[in-house]
Amino acid sequence: MSERAASEDGPGADFDLLMAEAHSAMDRAYAPYSRFWVGAAVSTEIGVFAGANVENASYGLSICAERVAAASAVAAGARTIDVVAVTSSSAEPVSPCGACRQFLNEFGPDMTVVSEGTAGGRKIWRLSDLLPDAFGPSDLESASRD
Ligand code: THU
Repeated sequence: MSERAASEDGPGADFDLLMAEAHSAMDRAYAPYSRFWVGAAVSTEIGVFAGANVENASYGLSICAERVAAASAVAAGARTIDVVAVTSSSAEPVSPCGACRQFLNEFGPDMTVVSEGTAGGRKIWRLSDLLPDAFGPSDLESASRD
């Protein structure tokens, strides 16, 4: 998918502000174990929310930047995410992990995912392409329960 040219500032300008928030968040990442720093920012119907990965001495409890950003947005009252911007200390853009894809799907199956590496390149996807045939809220509605 190519970048949307919805802004008068040119293609990609829509993503620049969100990416700037992701970069700021990455500066606050707590990643002493992996030393892999990640920042994310989500655009919602009530504004932009950012997050960074937060690790733990009990490694398995670590949480990704994307889920921190999404949870922050939802806790503030957001219910729909249109775009998630991700950046990390990797030279190349990283895509959200499987757990994050599922978590994000709840709040915007059609959201755009844009990721940037330190070398400056960007990759852009639709979440629905990263997580085809996703399990979601409607799957629970069609289940029979007594
Ligand atoms: N991580 C993220 O925050 N987002 C991703 O998309 C990939 C991985 C974090 C989890 C962990 O703190 C570190 O990066 C290494 O896996």
